[in-house]
Amino acid sequence: TQLLEDGVLGLDQSNRIVFVEDGSQLALLQDRYGFAADARTIQLKPHQFLMPGFIDTHIHASQYPNAGTGLDMPLLQWLETYTFPTEAMFANPEFAQNAYEKVVQRTLRSGTTACSYFTTIHREASTTLVETCERLGQRAYVGKVCMDRNSPSTYIEVTNESIRETEAFVQATLARNSELVTPIVTPRFVPTCSSQLMTGLGEVARRYNVPIQSHVSENAGEIEWVRQLHPQCSSYSDVYDVHGLLNSKAIMAHGVHLSEAEMQLLSARKVGVSHCPCSNYGILSGICRVRDLHQHNVKVGLGTDVSGGHSPAMLESLRLALIASKTVHFQEPALAPLRLYEGLHLATLGGAEVMGLQDQIGNFAPGKHFDALIVDPSSIDSPIDVFAKDKFSDRVEKFLFNGDDRNIVTVFVNGKVVKRLASAPALTADF
Ligand code: GUN
Ligand code: FE
Repeated sequence: TQLLEDGVLGLDQSNRIVFVEDGSQLALLQDRYGFAADARTIQLKPHQFLMPGFIDTHIHASQYPNAGTGLDMPLLQWLETYTFPTEAMFANPEFAQNAYEKVVQRTLRSGTTACSYFTTIHREASTTLVETCERLGQRAYVGKVCMDRNSPSTYIEVTNESIRETEAFVQATLARNSELVTPIVTPRFVPTCSSQLMTGLGEVARRYNVPIQSHVSENAGEIEWVRQLHPQCSSYSDVYDVHGLLNSKAIMAHGVHLSEAEMQLLSARKVGVSHCPCSNYGILSGICRVRDLHQHNVKVGLGTDVSGGHSPAMLESLRLALIASKTVHFQEPALAPLRLYEGLHLATLGGAEVMGLQDQIGNFAPGKHFDALIVDPSSIDSPIDVFAKDKFSDRVEKFLFNGDDRNIVTVFVNGKVVKRLASAPALTADF
């Protein structure tokens, strides 16, 4: 992950990164890259640094009204008791508009520049989230949720309609030619999706060349249920595979209890796993073995999984990912805990890989979009204190462990400022 304390970063007219260089030889750089001294610049204040924006590879925008509540039962009971009733409320356009406005604002403030969102079964409300991301300036995958079995009578679809509504949503969203928002095909998970639905959704994803997201091997009760529903399949992951849902554009959340064969399958199909530690603790699922996934060449990113995860902040997800990896290490000493910088990679470039956007975002490589955060460990009301002994790396670590929104003083998505606090540095021209 690239962290810049002092340097020169050049953007072209379309806000793509042209170069990142050491700032000490400005005159030479001006000569080499042919930019004027008064080009768009950001003069960072002391202690401030620039880093890539956080990428949340799995978040239920529709569960934000429940964030921080109801974390007292395992997945299947939790869905029935708290989650399905709240999602059903998104049939009401005003409820949806209000909730989606709040979740996009909340995640942007926390430094999340790109999200892969689940909505609800409602197409109209899903379009509201698309519009909200565009208006507030967040990069996003938005997926209308599909479910046609084992769901409450007030919150379920008919198979063909679920496929038709998904296709209509995908078409309409692609037709916007949005720079920021892409539709994603979203079968909720195997227990609520019939074989016919899963197959139909796989066809839609292929026809429009759009990504796919779902949940896999999250919780023991769920996995047992999937085994009973599909006794002919060799594993939970195999169910998705036989329905044509595993490919390099697929994001599978959790993967807490993946078998050796499943890890090999996900690796062979180039599927990305969204690790959501807050949720895995919150709704008692277990602990994902990220090191093991990496050793099997499975791509891994981080997700908040609001509201199985209590926090919409990726910093919280990052912290719990580090803790979770230590818990795994206690149980299996051969699996080393994640280093802090590995966690930061998961939260940025790892997420970009999982979303298939590694050539677009995730760090400051030339050609990528400028999705970035200016972090100020000494901002107004900062929860962190900086001491004379602190090196650059100490300030970064303090932010990652003890910082929050108050330290994220500017957020850029696609080269534009989408959040700005009073301690933000001056910008020379309109970003
Ligand atoms: N599996 C199916 N639906 C959900 C959901 O909404 N959250 C989580 N964490 N797992 C799921
Ligand atoms: Fe989820």
